[in-house]
Amino acid sequence: MKKTILTGIRPTGKLHLGHYFGATKNWVLLQDEYNSFFEIADVQALTDNFNNPEKVRESVRDIAIDLLAIGINPEKSTIFIQSMIPEIAELTIYYSNLVTIARLYRNPTIKTEISQKKALFGNDGESVTYGFVGYPVSQAADITAFNGELVPVGEDQLPLLEQCREIVRKFNSIYGETLKEPEAYLSKTKRIKGLDGNDKMGKSLGNAIYLRDSEDEIKKKIMGAVTDTNKIKKDDPANPDICMVYYYHQLIKSEDLNNICNECKKGLRGCVQCKKELIENMNKFLNPIKEKAKYYEDNPEIVDEILINGTKKAKKVAENTMKKVKKAIKIDYYD
Ligand code: TRP
Repeated sequence: MKKTILTGIRPTGKLHLGHYFGATKNWVLLQDEYNSFFEIADVQALTDNFNNPEKVRESVRDIAIDLLAIGINPEKSTIFIQSMIPEIAELTIYYSNLVTIARLYRNPTIKTEISQKKALFGNDGESVTYGFVGYPVSQAADITAFNGELVPVGEDQLPLLEQCREIVRKFNSIYGETLKEPEAYLSKTKRIKGLDGNDKMGKSLGNAIYLRDSEDEIKKKIMGAVTDTNKIKKDDPANPDICMVYYYHQLIKSEDLNNICNECKKGLRGCVQCKKELIENMNKFLNPIKEKAKYYEDNPEIVDEILINGTKKAKKVAENTMKKVKKAIKIDYYD
């Protein structure tokens, strides 16, 4: 029996290279080995975008298209929409009894996110809602509803998984062995840096290349990428290790990497030439993904069908979990 792997993604925009190289590229590989579920976590996205439902709605479709375009295969994997599975919300309610508010506030991921919110919106705490602080509980429901055994996560998400494991242990110890305790499937990839050299590529940082960026956008972004600032003239020697152009050459495995590196170090390669080559390689890399995405953009009914079927399949599994949970809590009236 294949193990079940569950992964979730918050629909708050399109996927960029940071998502791709940091996580989603590996998801494509995992789907052969595991029983793979991909949850488009719109309920979680609403916890901090409750006042922007249009954005979440649009992003659900964008994420679905991006996942299909990078090679998530609906024949092998189940792609579904979180809000269409009410069992997840139901589980969240029962799990919420098993978590203290203090413990949620101590969760390092929540802690970081709260301080980011306070920095953005001021210190009045108005941005910190009950739903937001509780999202780790809802995420525990996401995982356990589908008997997730493995959860691909980056380091920043580890505290959320730990919280899920605690909930599962508490549930099982009070109500009897019912839920599976999931394990993290830690990806070895590091965070992907932004075009500006920032440690993280992110939408809010404005330093991302999106998988579906047009050739013009790609050109503009790469021409503006940060290089070794000590290099003034075309034939100055430079340090490729602090150059974002070389960083992306490495990321997309440009041909002649050694050559690029040596020429840069010896001052035999100008940044403009180097950027032009990266633009060409980036287009070669992204064009097949964009072509696939275009197919799904042009055939929205195919995307609908994939989401409807995936959600149906996922719902059956969640219904089964719900039954077991209700029985364990002794609220299985008249079943
Ligand atoms: N919290 C994850 C993120 O911000 C998304 C997510 C929602 C998730 N549900 C999940 C991840 C379940 C793993 C398992 O990207």
